Amino acid sequence: MNGQPAVSASAPGKMIILGEHSVVYGKPAVALAINKRFYCRVSRSGEMILNGRRVPAFVHPHISSVINDNGLSGISMDAGTQIPTSSGLGSSAALSSSLSLAVRKLLGKETDQESIAKDAFNAEWNAQGRASPIDTSTCTHGGGVALNCPAGIGRELWRISRNDRSWNVSEFDVPEMTFVVGHTGIKAPTGPLVEKVRKYKEHNRFASDIIDEIGLVTLQGMNAIRRRDKEDLGDIMTRNHKLLSILGVSCNELNKLVNASLPYSYGAKLTGSGGGGSMIALTDQPEKVCEAISLRGGRPIVVRTGEEGVRLEEGLPETIDCI
Ligand code: PMV
Repeated sequence: MNGQPAVSASAPGKMIILGEHSVVYGKPAVALAINKRFYCRVSRSGEMILNGRRVPAFVHPHISSVINDNGLSGISMDAGTQIPTSSGLGSSAALSSSLSLAVRKLLGKETDQESIAKDAFNAEWNAQGRASPIDTSTCTHGGGVALNCPAGIGRELWRISRNDRSWNVSEFDVPEMTFVVGHTGIKAPTGPLVEKVRKYKEHNRFASDIIDEIGLVTLQGMNAIRRRDKEDLGDIMTRNHKLLSILGVSCNELNKLVNASLPYSYGAKLTGSGGGGSMIALTDQPEKVCEAISLRGGRPIVVRTGEEGVRLEEGLPETIDCI
């Protein structure tokens, strides 16, 4: 780096197990942190330096949002990730959350999770347009996180509002479960898909009904998780996938991977914004699901839940992909 004192931090990726897209409209959703992390190391600089190269300040909208919110015009940042980008696994949210912690620590500011989650949500909003805080709150808090769950179900963490929308963010106790993530290899940025749903909803009453239905299905899924009923949860995830397909955010590649996983899973669905990116399957037979996904051209990863949220690090891991 540039000889200045440096601070390192990391944050996990996430998978949404129920409620993506409808959460943008204030409906409930559940997401889990996964054991793949984004790492960054920052030090003070008058200009924007990314992995040793000078870059325009606006080169990455999430980075510029976090550094501007913290009163800086530049920063020297080294970064690497285990989370595939534009894959529905929260790589931008993990970047924003870990960068917020590192910058706040560097500047001697508050480093509580709520402040970090709010910085990271701001970055997501500025970069993506319309957004919900599901990704950024999950990558910040870790473990299981629910948005807009009924009172008494989760432990309330913080509340985030934007324009006419407001989200209650709660810690949601989720048992240990095995998921296989199947990456289609198709990069699908979130913003255009969120915009597609907004337009559909604006012009078609049917889209609003589907969004309401996803909200109901998600509540049923929350109850299945509380009962530790994997069979019911799996069925509900598969129903959620069908509703997302009707909303127009799935694609052939995702449907193929979901269908290939179903014989060996409790249930499967796309995760995140869709249009490509990834799907997830809840299973006790991860090897079989991985094989089925590989045979259909997907890239499988077995993920562990219960991952810690944003945290300070001693430095960057030795072997990691640069962003
Ligand atoms: O960015 P992704 O692919 O993880 O999707 C985020 C989930 C959405 O509900 C589609 C958007 C949002 O901000 O909640």
